Amino acid sequence: MKIIMLGAPGAGKGTQAKMIADKYQIPHISTGDIFRANIKNGTELGKEAKKYMDAGQLVPDELTVKLLLDRVANEDCKNGYVLDGFPRTIPQAEVLENALTKLGEKVDYAIDVDVPDENIIRRMSGRRACVACGATYHIVYNPTKEEGICDRCGAALILRDDDKPETVIKRLDVYHAQTQPLIDFYSSRNVLRSVDGTQDLMKVFEDIVAILDASEA
Ligand code: AP5
Ligand code: MG
Repeated sequence: MKIIMLGAPGAGKGTQAKMIADKYQIPHISTGDIFRANIKNGTELGKEAKKYMDAGQLVPDELTVKLLLDRVANEDCKNGYVLDGFPRTIPQAEVLENALTKLGEKVDYAIDVDVPDENIIRRMSGRRACVACGATYHIVYNPTKEEGICDRCGAALILRDDDKPETVIKRLDVYHAQTQPLIDFYSSRNVLRSVDGTQDLMKVFEDIVAILDASEA
């Protein structure tokens, strides 16, 4: 099962992708998490990506596409995966589609987690993220058991550098200009499914599971 998560920054893609990956036992692949891990480890890729991320812009395709294609070629992806944050532009979607077509494969679902811009900034200011395992929390909506410590792996949580309100506004602009067109792209492939991302996060997950299980049957 190959799943793509679509949605604005802060819509809950990462939160839902983690739960999907756990339930269906497929890898959760977040390009944002991969870049953040590289930044933390001080790699050349991380240094380059940080410039764009801190400005709320997209990392150029030259740095993103090969990284993703290499990752999905790994052995652990043979039964599928859930992509979170990729593709983010029509050219990225086309590269993925071409690579899958060569293998006789395709994306099964593109799940759009729909949240209006008004809700986003409130969510971002309370977000806490784990760079070690990619888990995401919210100080009000999804708190950890122990403040500042990841429930899943015990690492210290961070506030993301790109969650400042002014950067979030820039990311929303970039989303509307470059990423939202993917909704029509995947709709035209008949794989688009939308869920109301303003609901409680467990209800959002229930809606996603209903979609995935209905079509599996
Ligand atoms: P990335 O890390 O992908 O960021 P993003 O798309 O902006 O999305 P976020 O991770 O901010 O939000 P999310 O939808 O995952 O929400 P979350 O689940 O955390 O990318 C960062 C940057 O990397 C980009 O700006 C770009 O520069 C670069 N990049 C990455 N991929 C790229 C690519 N393919 N091409 C080019 N550049 C790329 O939830 C948000 C908060 O809300 C959390 O606190 C959560 O607990 C809470 N929450 C979640 N669901 C609910 C709910 N239902 N109710 C209440 N609160 C909720
Ligand atoms: Mg995320």
